[in-house]
Amino acid sequence: MAEPIERNLGLDLVRVTETAALGAARWLGKGDKESVDQAAVDGMRLHLSTIDIDGKVIIGEGEKDAAPMLFNGEKVGTGTGMIVDVAVDPVDGTTLTASGLPNAIAVIALSEGRGSMYAPGPLVYMDKIAVGPEAAGSIDLEAPLEDNLKKVAKANGKEVGDLRLLALDRPRNQPYIETARKAGARISVIRDGDVAAAIATAQEQHEADMLVGIGGSPEAVIAAAALACVGGEIQTRLWPRNDEERELALEEGLDLDQVMTTSDLVASDNVFFAATGVTNGEFLKGVYFAGEDKAVTHSVIMRSKTGSVRYMDAIHDLGRLRAISALTLD
Ligand code: FBP
Repeated sequence: MAEPIERNLGLDLVRVTETAALGAARWLGKGDKESVDQAAVDGMRLHLSTIDIDGKVIIGEGEKDAAPMLFNGEKVGTGTGMIVDVAVDPVDGTTLTASGLPNAIAVIALSEGRGSMYAPGPLVYMDKIAVGPEAAGSIDLEAPLEDNLKKVAKANGKEVGDLRLLALDRPRNQPYIETARKAGARISVIRDGDVAAAIATAQEQHEADMLVGIGGSPEAVIAAAALACVGGEIQTRLWPRNDEERELALEEGLDLDQVMTTSDLVASDNVFFAATGVTNGEFLKGVYFAGEDKAVTHSVIMRSKTGSVRYMDAIHDLGRLRAISALTLD
């Protein structure tokens, strides 16, 4: 007899990202990055504690910026149910939110099995290439970008000149941007938010073909969780900023040459992912506050076992929400 279909934890997770997004979006454009993060973390905690999982936070928030945290190593959930590793980014795009700019999202991912998620340790950056399902299996981080462009173009049924790449707008990514332009590819440089950018490569409604360049290590693991759900691929390599980080990596026994693939970053066949838009973006629309007591959120829920991708809009009655929870939404 077939096994009963197990609960899709993504449906619980979306409540976590919704409340994170609701909290963060109250701080839109107020120039206060720390409050954006704090509100999102508070919103996340509210629901995370009620989910029937035995969770351990592997990717927490904020070490790089000394932001308020869901600590790495912290146990989350009710302590019953599936044993999972947890990755959170209460807001990927805190500066975007604080500046009122597009493309900030609240994100959470779970993978079944303790030790199933890669813990990036002290190195905060990774070199990355990410693609959607058509081009999965065609990329090689060790090959020149020109070669990857040709292979991805072929896999996606395009010419190199039709490709659209995404890359974080940073001086360290300038060589990639110049190489892509020289090869004739189109490239959009983004101010922040390479989790949404990696996922965009796998979205049918988005014309992005490839994310390239150096971005956050935690964000690479979170992107891997989403791409594992939809059959995309990410390849990464730790990227030390200076000699000090190079030595630190050696002391910690980290291999700076190792190319890590999607399944090295998230080594589980049972992955759940949810994200909610904080500010309007190409990936998800942001929170819309309709008067004092009503808000609308837009989210996505993914699950690797079934490959299901659900887009969910929710209308929130903030008055009632405040009345039954600790959500303040100041
Ligand atoms: P935060 O919201 O935590 O600031 O991260 C935004 C982000 O753009 C990530 O998407 C990206 O991976 C990382 O920062 C890049 O780091 P940096 O801004 O230091 O170049």
